[in-house]
Amino acid sequence: MKKITVLGSCAVDLVVGSPRHPSVGETIIGDYFKMFAGGKGSNQAVAAARLGADVTFLGCVGQDDFGDFILDNFKANKVKISHVKKIKGVSSGIAQIVLSEGDNSIIVIKGANAHVTREYVLEKAEVIEKSDMVLVQQEIAEESVLALAKICRESGVPFILNPAPARLLSKEISEAAMLITPNEHEVKDIFPSGDTSEWLRNYPRKLLITEGIKGVRYHDGIQERIIPAYQVQAVDTTGAGDTFNGALAVALADGKNLETSIDFANKVASISVTELGAQAGMPYLESL
Ligand code: ATP
Ligand code: RIB
Repeated sequence: MKKITVLGSCAVDLVVGSPRHPSVGETIIGDYFKMFAGGKGSNQAVAAARLGADVTFLGCVGQDDFGDFILDNFKANKVKISHVKKIKGVSSGIAQIVLSEGDNSIIVIKGANAHVTREYVLEKAEVIEKSDMVLVQQEIAEESVLALAKICRESGVPFILNPAPARLLSKEISEAAMLITPNEHEVKDIFPSGDTSEWLRNYPRKLLITEGIKGVRYHDGIQERIIPAYQVQAVDTTGAGDTFNGALAVALADGKNLETSIDFANKVASISVTELGAQAGMPYLESL
């Protein structure tokens, strides 16, 4: 079993289904409320674990009921949590999600995820160094991602950066990453200037842009290519990108080439959007 370490956020998703998004100052009656485990780091860890990888999660929860809910979900999905830090007097991360008209809008409150500091990452250097593959996103501080990038570079451990939510990408982080996986909106915010074809050309076989139902765009060293997604009846696309990243890490750690890994990750991600909740639709290896 390949060892995958995920550094990042975990949260409780508070999901409201609504006929439409309310305007500023307006109150409307929604359709339903549901609570799910979420957070980009947690979603990626669970996606990889369901595909049979040996997954360790590095991150923080608060000492509250939501923290217990998050940890129970990790345990149920066989994600190792012995390095997760419980932060006293701080609430766990939450995401307030409105699902409406086939799309979502999300507000994230970092809570304990703000305590995933550079110092915490340095304390966990040994875990990172012993991994076959590492995954990181951006719901944690940039200095923490940078600390991880340095550890990975020095120990030769490959890492995938999912730059979500987007922020300007530092050269140190982008050079150290094996892959960078923004969606089509995020990619516009991670580079200071230029356009999609230029960015893809500058990062051949390294920059993978996920374009939802269209699939994944990248440059193969000769030309721009798109590996199509699978056609499904989408119910909720929240966490599609996370599922894609978790599955991509598993396929690459297993030694599959880039094209086969992207196709596999597309397949897994497309299945995941057929159910409500970021993690509910993530498939298990046996069911694939
Ligand atoms: P999120 O932020 O909601 O987690 P994202 O915007 O980061 O998602 P997308 O680019 O929307 O990520 O999707 C990632 C992958 O999920 C795509 O490459 C594709 O394989 C799959 N996917 C997303 N939406 C659909 C869809 N409607 N039908 C089939 N596959 C989809
Ligand atoms: O990528 C999807 C995730 O983003 C949700 O689970 C929510 O927690 C937000 O952080």
